[in-house]
Amino acid sequence: MTRQLIIPPYEGSYNVQNDLVGRKPFNWEEVKKHFSWHKTGKVNMAYECIDRHVEAGFGEKKALHYIAENSEWSLNYRELKDATDRWAVVLKKHGVKKGDFLFVFLPKHPECHIAILAAIKLGAIVGPLFEAFMEEAIRDRISDCEGKFLITNEEYLQRVPLHDLPSLTTIFLTDQHSTTANAISIPEELRQTDVKEDVIEWVDLEDGLNIHYTSGSTGKPKGIIHAHRAMIQQYITGRWVLDLKEDDVYWCTAHPGWVTGCVYGIFAPLLNRATIVLHGGRFNADSWYETIEKTGVTVWYSAPTAFRMLMAEGIETLQRYDISTLRHILSVGEPLNPEVIYWSVEHLKLRIHDTWWMTETGAQLIVNLPTEPIKPGSMGKSFPTIETAILDDEGNQLPVGEVGHLAIKGTWPAIMKEVWKNEEKYTSYFPFGSGWYLSGDLALIDEDSYIFFQGRSDDMINSSGERIGPFEVESKLIEHPAVAEAGVIGKPDFIRGEIVKAFIVLKKGYTTSPELLADIRIFVRNRLAAHAAPREIEVIEELPKTKISGKILRRELKAREIEKLKVVEV
Ligand code: PRX
Repeated sequence: MTRQLIIPPYEGSYNVQNDLVGRKPFNWEEVKKHFSWHKTGKVNMAYECIDRHVEAGFGEKKALHYIAENSEWSLNYRELKDATDRWAVVLKKHGVKKGDFLFVFLPKHPECHIAILAAIKLGAIVGPLFEAFMEEAIRDRISDCEGKFLITNEEYLQRVPLHDLPSLTTIFLTDQHSTTANAISIPEELRQTDVKEDVIEWVDLEDGLNIHYTSGSTGKPKGIIHAHRAMIQQYITGRWVLDLKEDDVYWCTAHPGWVTGCVYGIFAPLLNRATIVLHGGRFNADSWYETIEKTGVTVWYSAPTAFRMLMAEGIETLQRYDISTLRHILSVGEPLNPEVIYWSVEHLKLRIHDTWWMTETGAQLIVNLPTEPIKPGSMGKSFPTIETAILDDEGNQLPVGEVGHLAIKGTWPAIMKEVWKNEEKYTSYFPFGSGWYLSGDLALIDEDSYIFFQGRSDDMINSSGERIGPFEVESKLIEHPAVAEAGVIGKPDFIRGEIVKAFIVLKKGYTTSPELLADIRIFVRNRLAAHAAPREIEVIEELPKTKISGKILRRELKAREIEKLKVVEV
């Protein structure tokens, strides 16, 4: 296998090149002209994603291609418009209106996309929930912003602690009939629904669009609210970074409960009028390759853990499928090892283009454009007009090659509108008051402006690209009757990047046993979510703590763990 330190771009015709050649330097004003609101003054993300294309004569173009084990069907843009209009009429009839918080708790299925887009048509602020969330993860999110509406199904409703969610006034179900008291079956209502008028609620660019809860190293998850203006950057990154074109069949593997699944799984591809592939079900190498083969995926956006799992599966599996339609691959969410890129170049015959962004940034900021050389190990370079720097603890810019805080000069169109009811948290992203947004990541920048991720400056865990706050897991662990104290860290792992590892101190009278540890793990899993449950639990006598405030020294736990791994490697 050749390990080039720089992998040059492939020959080809790319949007970014075609749009920029011979033009003045790029600015956001140019992008705004692309949207219908630039002329009409009427703004709505869902309109720009769907209705605009139908009005322009593209109604018959395929919008969604759903594929699952026993089911495969698609919707064109006209059908997607009809479906979202009709759903919006039902939602409106039951009180959904501009500014209301509406949560969507559904599996990866077109109904999840339709629910999100229909609510946006009405100007509601949508909170998509990850399908594996359990009771407390759901309660924390819906109760924090006092969500009024929920779209789910009867199976998932079992995991919604309704008795603890007094703010919820209305439950919509996607089941054909509702057997739950006071819940509304959307299909039942649709049978009596006519769309007689324009359902779109016109809003301002600054009005709320969606809310994604995201973990930090302290406290409960915070509600990051985005505004409709995010579409400006989501559209142009879809065009230049994903390189979406008229004939593309695009697959983003993330669930809309994660910001990637919503922004680059729904908004960016629809704004670019691409065909979205939606794969129902969990990861499985055969069904993933089969999805690409059967639907003819051309552009594929996934995560390092998924690529590593495909690598681990061996090339025999890959060789059973024809995935030659693929032309562009991208990655996000966690560090992309050079090894994975080399594997892709050798076996998929394509580079993987890493991208960096965060829930809070609303869209990609650091990217590998298809026209640029890739330096494996680097996340890429700043997107045009985005100014990135590496700062020291006082906010001074560090020279090339030095590790420091990854910061972005504010502001950009997709940056979060607010952290729900937490002004203090919002301002904490700008600690130097000089317009630098601090990501919490540590990085260095090289002489060619390539940025290399070096870790987090806080204790946040990144497992399979999913952001997990140690505090949330620790809080849950100590609710278990046997656990006195807990410290949670991310332990380096080849496939998942990191796994959640818990160190616990047992209460008096308890002794460790495999059964007890399994019980503690299931306790967290059943209350928070599978991805947050510790994969490893170690019982220790005492947790390392700071002398003055008695705070758990997670960093020391992590250092000890890394030391142990080194011993094993030797
Ligand atoms: O630490 C960085 C990591 O994921 C964090 C953001 O997590 P989240 O808000 O869940 O959004 C994930 C997807 C947009 C970042 O602070 N991260 C994201 N992309 C990369 C990354 N770490 C290394 N390389 C990346 N390309």
